[in-house]
Amino acid sequence: MARIALVGPGAVGGVIAAWLETTGRHRVTLCARRPLGGLHVETPHGSITAKPAVLTDPAQATPVDWVLVATKAYDAAGAAAWLKGLAAEGAPVAILQNGVEHRERFAAYVPAAQLVPVMVDCPAERTDPTHIRQRGPARMVVQDDARGRGFVALFAGTPVEVSVTPDLKSAVWRKLCLNSSGVINALLLQPTAAMHDEQLGDLLKAMVRECMAVGRAEGAVFEEGLPEKILASQRAAPPDSVNSIHADRAAGRPMEIDARNGVIVRLGREHGIPTPYNQMAVALLEAMARGK
Ligand SMILES: NC(=O)c1ccc[n+]([C@@H]2O[C@H](COP(=O)([O-])OP(=O)(O)OC[C@H]3O[C@@H](n4cnc5c(N)ncnc54)[C@H](OP(=O)(O)O)[C@@H]3O)[C@@H](O)[C@H]2O)c1
Repeated sequence: MARIALVGPGAVGGVIAAWLETTGRHRVTLCARRPLGGLHVETPHGSITAKPAVLTDPAQATPVDWVLVATKAYDAAGAAAWLKGLAAEGAPVAILQNGVEHRERFAAYVPAAQLVPVMVDCPAERTDPTHIRQRGPARMVVQDDARGRGFVALFAGTPVEVSVTPDLKSAVWRKLCLNSSGVINALLLQPTAAMHDEQLGDLLKAMVRECMAVGRAEGAVFEEGLPEKILASQRAAPPDSVNSIHADRAAGRPMEIDARNGVIVRLGREHGIPTPYNQMAVALLEAMARGK
């Protein structure tokens, strides 16, 4: 029986918490900003109703065996308020977020040895605070070390596919290549079907190449033909698919601009690599967010 606290029970956090509950092996506690009656998750394997304990005040947090953080990247500081109590006895803190700076975001709050960065691929959306739709398979990747293998073990017996890799850096950068190009849809407010346009397809590939150049300078390794593969995956996706930065902009919510594109510009500057497409996307989206 592991005591697991999940900070940020939104789309991803809700799906993950619900699957952990189904094992019957864990005591799951949700750390939320507001009271929640329970979780109802529609998954490709059927519906799950879960009633984990819910805390709404970091002052109530007591030590657990594992902490899983699934807030948006820009909410790291708020999420960190929970960690003082939850991780007081040295619990590993898994960061289930997009981007490549999982460690950097939490370095000020948790000793590096406790942090477990997670590449998360879990298409999900919240229809209200307690109802979540998992739109496809949930997949996560962690570094192949003792804590990574401990994280994998939490999900044994669930359909959540968690694997280890000797090279997590390349896995998160590869995901960033896909996510960074999603800004095109957010700028246009058009779903994936837009990528059938030849010019937009070329733009997507150019943005992915910028991300790859910076990723390589950071030590990531990419397979041949990644820009073409990402474009092909977008063209094969359901034409009405809406990525999360597009959904956030459409709903007037804050956006993970820095975690998905700003980071490419910032790190590109450090390495002397120009990233004009990402720079323009960041400038436009930030100006739109300010003018909202
Ligand atoms: N959704 C996807 O399909 C998907 C797929 C892959 C990766 N990701 C990544 O996974 C991460 C989470 O995304 P998401 O879509 O699950 O976001 P989300 O639905 O917005 O959920 C974030 C949750 O964090 C909560 N939260 C924020 N600050 C908090 C705090 N201080 N204490 C406790 N809870 C707090 C929010 O509370 P409120 O309810 O009060 O807002 C919300 O419930 C992001 O990095 C995203 O890019 C998402």
